[in-house]
Amino acid sequence: MMAVGTAVIGSLQFGYNTGVINAPQKIIEGFLNDTWNNRYSEPIPATSLTTLWSISVAIFSTGLYIKRVRNSMLIANVLAFIAAGFMGFSKLAVSWEMLIIGRFIVGLYSGLSTGFVPMYVGEIAPTSLRGALGTLHQLGIVIGILMAQVFGMESIMGNSTMWPFLLGLTFIPAVLQCILLPFCPESPRFLLINCNEELKAREVLEKLRGTEEVGADMQEMKEEARQMMREKKVTILELFRSPLYRQPIFIAIMLQLSQQLSGINAVFYYSTRIFEKAGVSQPVYATIGAGVVNTAFTVVSLFIVERAGRRSLHLTGLLGMAFSAVLMTVAMALLDQLPWMSYVSIVAIFSFVAFFEIGPGPIPWFIVAELFSQGPRPSAFAVAGFSNWSANFIVGMTFQYVEQLCGPYVFIIFTVLLLGFFVFTYFMVPETKGRSFDEIAAGFRHDAGEAGEKYAPDEMNSLGGADSQL
Ligand code: GLC
Repeated sequence: MMAVGTAVIGSLQFGYNTGVINAPQKIIEGFLNDTWNNRYSEPIPATSLTTLWSISVAIFSTGLYIKRVRNSMLIANVLAFIAAGFMGFSKLAVSWEMLIIGRFIVGLYSGLSTGFVPMYVGEIAPTSLRGALGTLHQLGIVIGILMAQVFGMESIMGNSTMWPFLLGLTFIPAVLQCILLPFCPESPRFLLINCNEELKAREVLEKLRGTEEVGADMQEMKEEARQMMREKKVTILELFRSPLYRQPIFIAIMLQLSQQLSGINAVFYYSTRIFEKAGVSQPVYATIGAGVVNTAFTVVSLFIVERAGRRSLHLTGLLGMAFSAVLMTVAMALLDQLPWMSYVSIVAIFSFVAFFEIGPGPIPWFIVAELFSQGPRPSAFAVAGFSNWSANFIVGMTFQYVEQLCGPYVFIIFTVLLLGFFVFTYFMVPETKGRSFDEIAAGFRHDAGEAGEKYAPDEMNSLGGADSQL
């Protein structure tokens, strides 16, 4: 439990830096404005301001996606320290460049975390708890967002003197993780499968499980090791070339896109602004409310995902989000005539966020693991991660411009995208709950049809693959 807890500090960091820039937007914009003014003796033009702001928000999402284990997590913290330094001292140095560089570096750190936290947790978790523990990654993220929102309140750190501390605070979880990680074991799966150190692996496993009865776990890991020997690693290019993998990789990418192009981060990066425009008198509290709803519904999804199934929850989530986006648009459009519409907009955003965490938040990651086996899985995760971060970057970068163009109708774009993803999911995404990997693979083999038959049966069997490793 301590090992999982220590690892998800990385998720917390990701969430914190997602939410942190939201509430103090005005104040940091003021800093950008003053800096510009001092340097060029004129107020900053509105477009440059939006560009600078968008760049510092979006640059966070250019993080890379790489897979490694415990030691890499430890080393990655160097990035968090450097980033904290750049962001924390940007005001003192009167440099918005430092702010942007800091955001970029903490984005790299977060990109790494979204890769190896779920992997490490997945590797050390007992099979029966892997789904539940894997969801703790998303829970770490949402708690991080919530913390950032609370600390970002004007009375706490979201003010013109304290905002550098608010951004620099990211070094505290990094210190904590550096202290705790050396006490966490290296993943037993890594020790056995990658290093072939059976005795050490057993020792670690006994400690993790708190019992000497680890025979079944060892057996399962050895089976996985055998699978890995038989199944050659699949490169990213092969994922797209082979008719066996083309359909699942397409589904994996589309599900990542459905998570990001739903517009969720338009809310988490810019909700304070959105609430302000919607006439909410205490936008910061509404933003915190969204964070609370977000956290609560992540816990809900943790409990229902194994019962309701991935497909139906994802469909419900997308449809609910589309409905909420329409409600949001109506509220924004009618605001001038009906001032009470500002309350409707709060309800709309809350239900948007709640429906996100029911399906589109957690499910895309689970399902990538389920759609691929040991051989193609790392490449599939890299592709999925890249799609996720690219889409995140695009939304973060363009939302403010598009909002200027579309005014109150900006959420209609997300509605259209959401409905598109609903249709896609309805027709293309198979239910994976309660089906063995072999059954899932058989479905894709059937779809791959004639082309698939050219492949050796052994290679085809590998499609549905081993366990779900997040
Ligand atoms: C998911 C997304 C992330 C988003 C978060 C909101 O983790 O990957 O981009 O900010 O959910 O809860």
